[in-house]
Amino acid sequence: MKTNSSYAPYIMLPFNKEILESCSGFSCGDDELDNFFHNDADLYSIELIGKTYCWITNDKPHQIVALFTLANDSIKTFNLNNKIRNKLNRTINNSKRGRSYPAVLIGRLGINKSFQNKSIGSQLLYFIKDWFRHKSNKTGCRFIVVDAYNNGKTTKFYEHNDFRYLYDNELEERSQYNIPPTNKISTRLMYYDLKL
Ligand SMILES: CC(C)(COP(=O)(O)OP(=O)(O)OC[C@H]1O[C@@H](n2cnc3c(N)ncnc32)[C@H](O)[C@@H]1OP(=O)(O)O)[C@@H](O)C(=O)NCCC(=O)NCCS
Repeated sequence: MKTNSSYAPYIMLPFNKEILESCSGFSCGDDELDNFFHNDADLYSIELIGKTYCWITNDKPHQIVALFTLANDSIKTFNLNNKIRNKLNRTINNSKRGRSYPAVLIGRLGINKSFQNKSIGSQLLYFIKDWFRHKSNKTGCRFIVVDAYNNGKTTKFYEHNDFRYLYDNELEERSQYNIPPTNKISTRLMYYDLKL
């Protein structure tokens, strides 16, 4: 499938080992993510627990520009405190408020190092947003969620692309997951409302 022409001029394909082997090397600079894409992504796809897609360059040898893994998810409102539940519910029609809202999880996302800081990550998020709010989408999906690396750069990148923190601060997120105050919180749960 080719991405919409308003996005970067790359070819989008479901990712697998053959693509990895036929393209020049990929690294996003994060060892854990690189290891996932090189060794685990195929198995996740086979087990139907996470589907990875790639953007590759048109010209040969193809280069992998971006890799991202998606899975079904949900935001469960019944275990959120009132303040956060109200924040989410405010945007949902009164009669349709419920205990859980469907979402798509960006489980993994990496841009090849030599393509970073060129707005490709932002274009990829635009693409995912349009993809899941498109009328041909097979299921209802209201939110995009991501456990963003809790370093300044990654959370800023999502903020810049209109993602919001589900928990207003680290203290709230810690108490939700019973993380002791002495432990560093390595990711922040962020979401994007597809009806924005
Ligand atoms: C985080 C990541 C996905 C961002 O992708 P990217 O393509 O570099 O992102 P963008 O270029 O769209 O935006 C990155 C920043 O560069 C800025 N930028 C965009 N275009 C730019 C340009 N032409 N020149 C300079 N800076 C630019 C953006 O404003 C943004 O800054 P901000 O975060 O302060 O708003 C990428 O850096 C990456 O793969 N990192 C390693 C893996 C990782 O952390 N993945 C996320 C896991 S949750």
